[in-house]
Amino acid sequence: MIIGFIGFGKVSRNLVKIINSDDIEFVTSAENRSSKTIDDIEKSGIEVLDTFKEVARRADVLISATSPKNALGVARQYGKYANGIYLDLNNISPDTTSKINESVCNLVDGAIIGKIDSDNPILYLSGKKASRLRFLNDFIQTKIISDNAGDASKLKLLRSTYTKTLSALLIESAEIARDNCLEDEFFSMLSLTEGDDFREKSLSRINNTLNSSKRKSEELEEIINYFDENELIMVKAALKKLSQ
Ligand SMILES: NC(=O)c1ccc[n+]([C@@H]2O[C@H](COP(=O)([O-])OP(=O)(O)OC[C@H]3O[C@@H](n4cnc5c(N)ncnc54)[C@H](OP(=O)(O)O)[C@@H]3O)[C@@H](O)[C@H]2O)c1
Repeated sequence: MIIGFIGFGKVSRNLVKIINSDDIEFVTSAENRSSKTIDDIEKSGIEVLDTFKEVARRADVLISATSPKNALGVARQYGKYANGIYLDLNNISPDTTSKINESVCNLVDGAIIGKIDSDNPILYLSGKKASRLRFLNDFIQTKIISDNAGDASKLKLLRSTYTKTLSALLIESAEIARDNCLEDEFFSMLSLTEGDDFREKSLSRINNTLNSSKRKSEELEEIINYFDENELIMVKAALKKLSQ
């Protein structure tokens, strides 16, 4: 089997390491890529073709892992040459997934939960041909959720609805605890019911949210736009909190 990559950044580099099988070959292209990406491709030692068009033609599974912004353009440009499965792993909204579905045959919608280089990333897949990627479970925990391309990205958005809103609530509660000189006690008390690692996880979540509040706000806006038929009182409050 040949797995082709469009985009050779952190995700693709790690997948080459994780999917370790004598039966699988990897290909990509350096066409119009940055020196960093070309360097990463050389270090990985995988086969390099002249163009992404050739990569799309040769691959049994074509993986798009570029950026949320470029995902649709890449699908429109190369999807028509892909004869096998087209697996999109970009963090995109379900609306973008359905646009990609119009330009690509055999789309499988993929959502990586957790960082790809974390201890236990999980891959969610949806789409009519998703079961053809069941073999990935030998290398990375893989869950096939439905035949509907778009469900994996929708589920990831739903997850963000919870986690990003919760982060805003956590920031506010910790601020009040600090104002009352009870921050330590606040985290210790919550750890009693939420688990021993609650303090560490919460502080990491708070810092992560504050350090990228602009991006998190944009993601909350995306949730509000996508689920526009739902009231989303809490998500809107979280957006207001992060905008302050
Ligand atoms: N990292 C994670 O743990 C993670 C988890 C979940 C989802 N994702 C999603 O997976 C995707 C890739 O993430 P990443 O962390 O691997 O990103 P990254 O490290 O920034 O790598 C992106 C790669 O895509 C290439 N690229 C960009 N536009 C391209 C185009 N039009 N044609 C061909 N190659 C192109 C870049 O090449 P140049 O250097 O030449 O621009 C680079 O090699 C993103 O959509 C991200 O949201 C990532």
